[in-house]
Amino acid sequence: MTLITNNSTTEIINFGAEDESVQQVCVSLKATLLVIEYHRFPDGESYVRVIDEGKDLNNSRVIIVSNLHQPDDKMLQLYFLCETLREMGVTRIELLAPYLPYMRQDIRFKPGEGITSRYFATWVSQFVDRLVTVDPHLHRYKTLADIYSIETELIHASDSIAKWIENNVADAILIGPDSESEQWVKAVAEKANRPFIVLEKIRRGDRDVEVSVPDAVRYQHCTPVLIDDIISTGKTMLQTAVHLQNAGLKKPICIGVHAVCADSDYRQLMSGYVEKVVSCNTIPHESNGINIMPTIIDRL
Ligand code: R5P
Repeated sequence: MTLITNNSTTEIINFGAEDESVQQVCVSLKATLLVIEYHRFPDGESYVRVIDEGKDLNNSRVIIVSNLHQPDDKMLQLYFLCETLREMGVTRIELLAPYLPYMRQDIRFKPGEGITSRYFATWVSQFVDRLVTVDPHLHRYKTLADIYSIETELIHASDSIAKWIENNVADAILIGPDSESEQWVKAVAEKANRPFIVLEKIRRGDRDVEVSVPDAVRYQHCTPVLIDDIISTGKTMLQTAVHLQNAGLKKPICIGVHAVCADSDYRQLMSGYVEKVVSCNTIPHESNGINIMPTIIDRL
């Protein structure tokens, strides 16, 4: 672990995050924003320049507030940025990545596949000292320490989601679309003091998902609230909503911690089977309705 001394300064970098979030981090840590110039050359290569404006970065701590959604477009630039910071004397680089990508390929599903979650973690651990993230997709890994060799800080969105449900859906029955979602649904249900059920999902391909018909008839008068960590293609939520509707339940509200979804997938999800989609602001998206930043800032 890299230590910083008491007189080290903290600098904040915005790496594709929302300006408002970055501003909140700066204010609460009484830290200044380090300006970075990003550029993509016509040949697709990345340019990064740290504009230090005469600041001495020697022995300083830098927190990179990032948006790592669509990681392949960004990771090389992030790596170049971190290497540059090191060469300028920065001793501690903390990566605040509210959404942590490359967590779902946590096993070799077919022979010849790479376990990319592990490769990604090994790489990031080489150039970052601390990783702070919100509800990463921990399915077959128990903790981030299974794959990350650096200090990691895991923040749960369950408090914020439970509060949103308490304030907005008094008659909620919480539903997890698959066994992996149980960890999130159970935590939220306990905090919001609402009942919950978890369904079973069979995935046949990227866009081919079947969800078991739920035994939820007794909740017909409640508002179903589907909760999952990631909404990607939206198929998991959509299939679940269809089955709930066939079982005579009301249209559900879908809550995702991370709205990874492309616009077209989001539109399809909103096309009639669901009441609305609400997500935490870990990835900027029009469904963002639950502000997780105060919880994150508390932990920085
Ligand atoms: C499963 O591994 C995750 O918890 C989510 O259920 C999944 O990522 C959702 O994906 P999609 O929206 O593509 O069905």
